[in-house]
Amino acid sequence: MTTVPGAATEPERSQPLTVPPFAVVAGAQVQHALRGREKQVVDLVEATYRLHGAGDSVNPPSYFLRFPDRPTSRIIALPASIGGDVRVDGLKWISSFPSNVAAGIPRASAVLVLNDHDTGYPFACLEASIISATRTAASAALAADWLSRGRPRPTRVGFIGTGLIARYIHTFLAGTGWSFDEVGLHDLSAGSTAGFSGYLEQSGTAGEITLHDTAEQLIRSSDLVVFATVAGQPHVTDPTWFEHNPVVLHVSLRDLAPEILLASTNIVDDVEHCLKADTSPHLAEQLTGSREFLSGTLTDVMDGRVSIPVDQPVVFSPFGLGVLDLAVGKYVYDEVAGSGELHVIDDFFFERRRYG
Ligand SMILES: NC(=O)c1ccc[n+]([C@@H]2O[C@H](COP(=O)([O-])OP(=O)(O)OC[C@H]3O[C@@H](n4cnc5c(N)ncnc54)[C@H](O)[C@@H]3O)[C@@H](O)[C@H]2O)c1
Repeated sequence: MTTVPGAATEPERSQPLTVPPFAVVAGAQVQHALRGREKQVVDLVEATYRLHGAGDSVNPPSYFLRFPDRPTSRIIALPASIGGDVRVDGLKWISSFPSNVAAGIPRASAVLVLNDHDTGYPFACLEASIISATRTAASAALAADWLSRGRPRPTRVGFIGTGLIARYIHTFLAGTGWSFDEVGLHDLSAGSTAGFSGYLEQSGTAGEITLHDTAEQLIRSSDLVVFATVAGQPHVTDPTWFEHNPVVLHVSLRDLAPEILLASTNIVDDVEHCLKADTSPHLAEQLTGSREFLSGTLTDVMDGRVSIPVDQPVVFSPFGLGVLDLAVGKYVYDEVAGSGELHVIDDFFFERRRYG
């Protein structure tokens, strides 16, 4: 073999390369593999953040497909590659059509394609709205844990935006040991708060449930504030609402005016990703012309490089990383394969010989 000095070379292989079988994993199988596994999934997400922080991943910017005729909708491509023990490449392709909700179907729909590390062949297509909501909620629960260390553990949680993602976040908080005396809800839609209240009552894990007419009331009465709206621009602008220094999970990314971030400790999942697409951190960077308002990433906090002051609000703005979808998707694939329930599509890759 001839090698070019400085060029990367493929590692020697002990196994011959073969075309992997191609499987389709349905939402019912995904849900079955993940249900009740909140602690395992949070551990997996933590390990994946650490791998990403250590550079053992490739996670290019998400690509946003937008439509002039449907300005509120989008489809996002999240390609990624993850090393470590997981060793898989792939792509999440996720639509957000907010007007679906009025028709009684979820806003987001998605597939995740997993590609084989050695051949590049796609070997699975998984229903991914559940995977996406799961990794988002697991990341939020992980952040709530790390960012509230050193301050009294929040007992009053408030959700601004009470849709599917809020429900998953509550399930992940409850499933990883959080219990709350008070749960506050605020949404522009009375139907959403009614639906969420019904879920809370059924879950049997809620404390006292309060519906708040305004975001201000909710924020002032919560120590842990979760934003999971579909707001496109900041609608919360007054820093004094946060003077009790809550932990804020800013999952929907565009709710907070830059002035609020500038008065807070700001933690993101990945700096380059988060300072894009008109997120609140992106607006704060544009306003100040600098990134100094960012304290660091969640991995920085986990590794002790950044500590969280208790005399300021702390805001976690996670852009949402494709590597998390890959890690959770591969976990699901391995569970389904291990149970012998994989639906393999025979002859999916059919043209296998170069010259027929
Ligand atoms: N950061 C990430 O990794 C990540 C991942 C997944 C989803 N998300 C985001 O989470 C958000 C919620 O997703 P979902 O699937 O739950 O959506 P959803 O449509 O089910 O629920 C959103 C709710 O927000 C409410 N809402 C809209 N504007 C509001 C406002 N100004 N104040 C109060 N409530 C408001 C709506 O009435 C609706 O009930 C979306 O913005 C989505 O992009 C983020």
